[in-house]
Amino acid sequence: MTDSEFSDEKVLRSWRRNAEPWQRAINRAEIGSRVRVTDAAIVAAALGYRPRAALDIGCGEAWLCRALASEGVVTWGVDAVPALIQAAQRRSEGMDCQFMEMRYEEMECARFPQRFDLLVCNFSLIGEQSVQQLLAAAPTLLQPGGHLLIQTLHPCWAGDGDYQSGWRQGSWEGFNNEFRDPPPWYFRTLGDWIALLGSSGLALCRLDEPVDPATGKPASVIFHARPV
Ligand SMILES: C[S@@+](CC[C@H](N)C(=O)[O-])C[C@H]1O[C@@H](n2cnc3c(N)ncnc32)[C@H](O)[C@@H]1O
Repeated sequence: MTDSEFSDEKVLRSWRRNAEPWQRAINRAEIGSRVRVTDAAIVAAALGYRPRAALDIGCGEAWLCRALASEGVVTWGVDAVPALIQAAQRRSEGMDCQFMEMRYEEMECARFPQRFDLLVCNFSLIGEQSVQQLLAAAPTLLQPGGHLLIQTLHPCWAGDGDYQSGWRQGSWEGFNNEFRDPPPWYFRTLGDWIALLGSSGLALCRLDEPVDPATGKPASVIFHARPV
């Protein structure tokens, strides 16, 4: 496959198509590495900053918004997939959570009534230009002293191909057979993640590598960044 067969648009098309199975997979706690490692890792990283107001970017059905709201954090969530935003609203009724349907490419501080202490992206930075545009806007969404957290696949899992940034064919391997048309994803090397943060006006201040006890390997990487 060539790069022209991949795009940010295809990422969203796939998520629109898989919104229902995704909600069921989260409900049934089907993703082992999330249950064993990565959910707790991102919640601990987020609460470590004692945020008053957090924005969950690419929130999906918003389990993380609810986890933070239950600890007293005022939480907003955005996602481009209408069915996921509707599910987020339904599941979060009565909690201090607000949701907006929005693509990363459209994010700017004028769209929100407040700035945030914390921006958090949990396995939601999948594309190429959409991610560049979002990170460029991130400093304007933060209060002075605020932080950005990104949890993503550890770059030691380069997918098929060399250790070089670029689009990869997606796969639902390990997921149930309700999923269709996996989203392509834009792999970034560790160096390219850090360079992208830098060119977006953000500096890396910490990096976590939560290890999955089932494999002995890192389940993810968590970048902690703040505006320079
Ligand atoms: C793997 S899911 C993660 C959802 C949630 N953060 C979680 O931890 O369960 C990736 C999410 O990113 C969203 N997403 C991907 N690209 C996006 C974009 N360009 N604009 C808005 N949302 C996007 C998808 O719709 C999907 O809900």
